Amino acid sequence: MRSGVIFGVLAALLAFPDALALKANDFKTCSKSGFCRRGRALSARAQEAQASWKSPYSLDPSSVSISPDEATVKASVKSSLYPDIKFGLELRIHDDGVVRVIMDEVDGLRKRYNEAAEWALVAEPKMSKTISWTAGKKDLRAVYGEKKNIQIVVSYDPLRVTLLRNGKEQIVLNGRGLLHMEHFRSKTVKETSEEVASDSSGEGQEVLQVENVRAWFEGESEDDWWEETFSSWTDSKPKGPESLSLDISFPNHGNVYGIPQHATNLSLPSTTGDDAPYSDPYRLYNADVFEYLASSSMSLYGSIPVMHAHSADSTVGVFNAVGSETWIDISYPTKKSTHTHWISESGIMDVFLLPGPTPEQIFTQYARLTGTTALPPHWSLGYHQCRWNYVSSDDVRTVQRRFDEEDMPVDVFWLDIEYAEDHKYFIWDSKTFPDPVKMTDDVAAIGRKMVVIVDPHLKRTDSYPIYKEASDMDILVKPKSGEGEYEGWCWSGSSSWIDHFNPASWDWWISKFKTNKIDTGFSWTQSTEDIHIWNDMNEPSIFNGPEITMPKDSIHYGGWEHRDVHNINGMLFHDNTAQAIRFRGDVPKRPFVLTRSFYAGSQRISAMWTGDNLGTWEHMAVGIKMVLANGIAGMTFAGADVGGFFGNPEPEMLIRWYQVGIFSPFFRAHAHIDTKRREPFLLEEPYKSIVRDILRLRYTMLPIWYTAFRENSVTGLPIVRPHYVMFPKDPVGFAIDDQFFIGSSGILVKPITEKEITETTVYLPDDQVYYDYFTHYAYRGSSQGNYVTVRAELHQIPVFIRGGSILPTRERPRRSSPLMKHDPFTLRVALSKSGTARGELYLDDGVTYSHQQGELVWREFVAEPSAKTTRISSKDLASANPSQTVDGVMLETYNPKNAFVKEIEEVRVEKVVVLGLSNKPKSVKVENGAELYWEYIPGVPASDKKEGTSSVLHIKDPKVIVTEDWAIVIS
Ligand code: GLC
Repeated sequence: MRSGVIFGVLAALLAFPDALALKANDFKTCSKSGFCRRGRALSARAQEAQASWKSPYSLDPSSVSISPDEATVKASVKSSLYPDIKFGLELRIHDDGVVRVIMDEVDGLRKRYNEAAEWALVAEPKMSKTISWTAGKKDLRAVYGEKKNIQIVVSYDPLRVTLLRNGKEQIVLNGRGLLHMEHFRSKTVKETSEEVASDSSGEGQEVLQVENVRAWFEGESEDDWWEETFSSWTDSKPKGPESLSLDISFPNHGNVYGIPQHATNLSLPSTTGDDAPYSDPYRLYNADVFEYLASSSMSLYGSIPVMHAHSADSTVGVFNAVGSETWIDISYPTKKSTHTHWISESGIMDVFLLPGPTPEQIFTQYARLTGTTALPPHWSLGYHQCRWNYVSSDDVRTVQRRFDEEDMPVDVFWLDIEYAEDHKYFIWDSKTFPDPVKMTDDVAAIGRKMVVIVDPHLKRTDSYPIYKEASDMDILVKPKSGEGEYEGWCWSGSSSWIDHFNPASWDWWISKFKTNKIDTGFSWTQSTEDIHIWNDMNEPSIFNGPEITMPKDSIHYGGWEHRDVHNINGMLFHDNTAQAIRFRGDVPKRPFVLTRSFYAGSQRISAMWTGDNLGTWEHMAVGIKMVLANGIAGMTFAGADVGGFFGNPEPEMLIRWYQVGIFSPFFRAHAHIDTKRREPFLLEEPYKSIVRDILRLRYTMLPIWYTAFRENSVTGLPIVRPHYVMFPKDPVGFAIDDQFFIGSSGILVKPITEKEITETTVYLPDDQVYYDYFTHYAYRGSSQGNYVTVRAELHQIPVFIRGGSILPTRERPRRSSPLMKHDPFTLRVALSKSGTARGELYLDDGVTYSHQQGELVWREFVAEPSAKTTRISSKDLASANPSQTVDGVMLETYNPKNAFVKEIEEVRVEKVVVLGLSNKPKSVKVENGAELYWEYIPGVPASDKKEGTSSVLHIKDPKVIVTEDWAIVIS
C-alpha cells in the first residue's frame, strides 16, 4: 500500500476513530425513535382494544366537491380527538386507473413537506376521463376500468379508502384505524388532570373525557415530541411532532414484495406477530451501515417506498411518496392476507394505489408515474474492475495489460477515493496520477472506459475550488440555525455538502464536469469524455453525524429540514451528476453514474449497487434477493460487489461470486482497501480458466442483456425477474428468490451461493421443456411445477433456456464490448414442446441518443412449424411498433435503412443452433436459396415427455444479415 493511501485512511480514522468500527447499535431501532415508538404503540393499543377500536378520523359528507371532469374529489376530514384541526383529503383517478390519495393539514400552524412526489414523478399524471362518482349516505364511490370491475370506495365514518376488483377488496387504507396525522402545535405546558378535574363549571369533565380519548388513541405522554436524543446526538425538532401513521391492508394477498433496500428475502418476512422473524419494522432511512447484516429489516443505503401485494388472483401495488424516515410493519394475519403499517416522520400523505391486476401492469403503472431506466451506455453492461484503490496511473496500465495477456474481457477500470489529492474530488493526486488524460486515453484505446469516484462531501478549504465556489454561491446545506454552512466529517476531513435541492446548484454542478475550460471557475479539464462517475456516500454518509448521516434539523433550500427530504437527497446528487456527464461534450452522450443512495425515480438516472457487503456466502445469496427487490421497485440496473467488499474470498467463493455477477444487470468486482488483490488474472489454474469462461459468457450474452434493457426502458418490467412476475398464478414460485429469469429472453438461472456444491435442485414452473444452456439436456417442467436435480460443480452454472425462446449471442472472445460491434451473431432456437420459438434482438450505437431518432435495429425471430417443416424467420419489429421502440420515445416513423443499420450492414448470423427438432431434416435452406451446411445430432425432441439430451441441429454460416428480413426453412 502506498504511503498516501495509508495516510488518507489513517487521517479519516484519527479524525473519527469509529469510522471503521460501526455496529448495528449505531442505528436506531424503532424503540429508539420517538415517532416510530408512538406509531407502534398506537397499533398495540388498537390490537388490544380489538372491536372497540375506532379510527377518530371521519369525512364530512357535506364538504365533498367533485371536479367537473369527476377525476378529482376533495373533502374535509376531521379527527374527533382534535375537532378544531382541519384536514383535507383529495382523491385523483388517473387515466390508467391509478388512484392517488392525498391528505394534508389545512390552515395548520406550519406547512408539511409536500414535494416528495414532485421529485419522484416523471410528469404530472393524466387524469381519467371516464370516471363518475356517486355520493351516498355512508360513502362515496366510483366504478371504473374497461370492464367496470374496479371500484373505489371512500367511507365517511370512520374514514377509509378501499380499492376493490370484482367486488373483492384489494387495498384498504385505514381499515385498521391506525391513520394518524400529528397536527402542528405550539409547545405549551400541559394542564394537569387534577386542575382540569377540579374545574367547577362542568366543562372540565368534558375536557377530561377528550383527554382520555386522546390518551386512548395517542398515549398519555408527549413522548419525544419536542426533542429527541440518540446516543450523543440531540435532534432539536423545532416543528414538534408531525408524523404520519397509516395502515395499508391487502385482505386478499398473502405475499408482499419491494420497499428496498433491505438485506432480506424477496417475499418480505413479517415483523409483528408471534412468529415474526424480525422484531423491528422495515426501516427506510438512507444509511451507510458498516458491515450490514445479511438478514435484517434495518435500513440500508437507499429507500423506495413501493410495495407489491400478490396472490394467484391479482397483483396490486402502493407507492407511498414520502421522503422522510419511514418504518413499515408487516404481518400476515392469514396465509392469504397482509397487514402493513407505515409510520413516517414528516410529510403529507400522498399514496398511489396501483390496481394491477397483473405484475406486468403494476410495472407499467409505476413506470408511468416515475419513469424507467433510460438505455444505459452499452459498455456499462460489460465487466467493471474496481478496487479501493488502483494506486497510480501505472497501476491502472498494469492491470489493463494483465487482463489482455490473460485474454479476459473487461470494459471499465475504476478509481476509488485515493486518486484525489486529500480526497478533493476532481483534483488528481499529481504524485500518483501525473497523467490522468493520457492514462484514460490508454484505456480508451481498447474501447474501454474509466469510472472515477466523486463523493458529495467537499473538503472545507479555500484552496479547493469546488468548495470555494459553492461556499461563495451560498449553495451548501445549512446547520439548524439556518445560517452559514453545515460542517461534518467524511473522507476529506472537515467537509460541507452541496444542497442539490437548491436550483442555483444545478447548472453550476454541471459546469464543473466540462472537459474544456469555462469562463467562470473550475472545470475538469484534467478529464476526458471516457471518464464516467461513481457517486458514493450520498445518503449522505457523515462519520460524526447521528446514525452516520446528516442531522435532521439541518436546513435545505426552501427552509425544509433535512428530516423532510433525507431519503430523496442522494437521488438529486446522482441526477445532477448524470446530467453533467450527459452534457459535458459537444454531443450529448449517455451517462453512466453509479449511485449508492437512491429513491423512487432514481431508476431513470443510472445504476446502483448494494454497498459494502461482506465476502460471505450469506451475503452472496442475499445480494441476489436484493437485486430482485430493487427491480420490483423500478431500480433494476443493480448489482452487488463481486467478491464481497470486505474479506479475502477463497477461489471457490470468488468463482461462485463471478457466476452471480454475470447474471446481475450491473456487474462489477470491488474490494476494500485492506483486502488482498484479487483481480481474476491472479487466480491459479484451474480457477483462472473457469473465471475467463465466466467473463466470456457475460460478453457472449450482451445482446440478451441489452435487449432486456430496451424492454425495461419502455415497460418498466425488470431486467431480472422473479418467479411471481413470470408465473403469477403459480403459488410455488411466490417465495422463490434464488433463481430468476433474464428479461423476456427465456433464460432461467440459479446461481450457486453455497460452499462445496456439486448439484442443486431447480424449480421448473410450467409444462414446458427447459434446455440446459451448455449441454442441451432437456428437462421437463409440469403444470403443477417440477423440481429437477442438476449438476453444479464449480465450473458449472445452472442456466436453462425455456422451450419457445430464441437467443441472440455473440461468441467471439474480445477484449472489450465495443470491439464486438461488427461481430456476427449466433441464434439458439430452443423449440417449445409444440415446436415454436420466439426471440428479440435490440441494437443501437450504444453511446449517443441517436436511438431516440430511430437509429436502431429491433428484430423479432420466430420459429414456426408447419407440415413437416420448421421455418425460422427474422423480421423488423421497429417498423411495426415505432411507438414502442425504446426509452418510451414515440418515433413518428422508423427508417429500416437508418444510419446505424448502414453502419452494421455487413453483420451476419454465423450460426443457428436448433434444439428439440423431432426428426433429422432432409434439407436446410435459406428460403428460395441454396442448401446450407448443417449437422444434426439426434436426441430427445421438444415434443417428448421424457428427459434427455435434446436433438441439436447446427446450421453453419447461413449468410443471412442480421439487419435484414430472411427465413431459413428446415424440412
Ligand atoms: C464506501 C463505499 C465503498 C468504497 C469506499 C471508499 O465504503 O461503499 O465502495 O470503496 O467507501 O470510497
